[in-house]
Amino acid sequence: MTPSGHHRFASLDEKQGEGQVPWDTNHLEEAVHEIRSRAPYSPQVGIILGSGLGDLVQSLEQESSLRYDSIPHFPSSTVAGHAGRLVFGVVEGREVVAMQGRFHYYEGYSMSQITFPVRVMRLLGVDTLVVTNAAGGLALHFDVGDLMLIADHINLVGMGGHNPLIGPNDPKVGPRFLDMSCPYDPELREVARQVAGEQHIPLREGVYAYLAGPSFETPAEVRFLRLAGADAVGMSTVPEVLVARYMGMRVLGVSGITNVHAAESAPPRETTHQEVLEAGRVIAPRMAALVRGVLGRI
Ligand code: HPA
Repeated sequence: MTPSGHHRFASLDEKQGEGQVPWDTNHLEEAVHEIRSRAPYSPQVGIILGSGLGDLVQSLEQESSLRYDSIPHFPSSTVAGHAGRLVFGVVEGREVVAMQGRFHYYEGYSMSQITFPVRVMRLLGVDTLVVTNAAGGLALHFDVGDLMLIADHINLVGMGGHNPLIGPNDPKVGPRFLDMSCPYDPELREVARQVAGEQHIPLREGVYAYLAGPSFETPAEVRFLRLAGADAVGMSTVPEVLVARYMGMRVLGVSGITNVHAAESAPPRETTHQEVLEAGRVIAPRMAALVRGVLGRI
């Protein structure tokens, strides 16, 4: 017998067979216990705010927040533009919890660390997750500043073997083989379309391709992603959506298009983190208005 893998997984399976808990359940419980003892609400709605998209937090009523580094086992954020707090508050009469700052694979976190906060939110009572991100536009008619409702995604990182659901499974938490035929809730998408129409917020709809990053795409990769049917590309969201769906939450996903990739006929142009952050300043108020409008109706 090899001293590694096989034996370890066998014992984890045995534990599960006995109805025991997966490896990180104690960590989850400790985090949830700490948050419950300090948070003012048990929110039903969770929001993940992407790079530079924190505006929504400013309009929360009765806001109070917990820094990630004050919550046991919570990872902490390492990128400029990501503050790193869990913010509680009320929007349109709904109690919400928002992650200001999220975790990315390119920072060196594991898939289970990236998705730890989603598991925490579910245990806090969240059943609806709104996920936002900054993304690069691939569809030729997209402009910087557009919002894109995520209709579907392509999980290139997952296809490469990095899916947060890999590992021992506890069937009490979610299914071993997760159906992903409809990851983004059609009703929430319809509400978002209505809100955008009424408030004249430019809203596209399309497929989000998830890459690990942190390097941006080469021209050949941009062509590849377009051929694959992607309309936008980014470095987040999909792991969180997988765990949210796994735990039975309904999900609304919205990308803010911070930069557009050149058409095939055009000379390649540079993509910079600076332009992503600057466009975020235009996108953030639109994103806040859209999410606020949706929360007022669900
Ligand atoms: N590519 C990947 N991730 C991104 C981009 C991009 O062009 N813009 C914002 N996030």
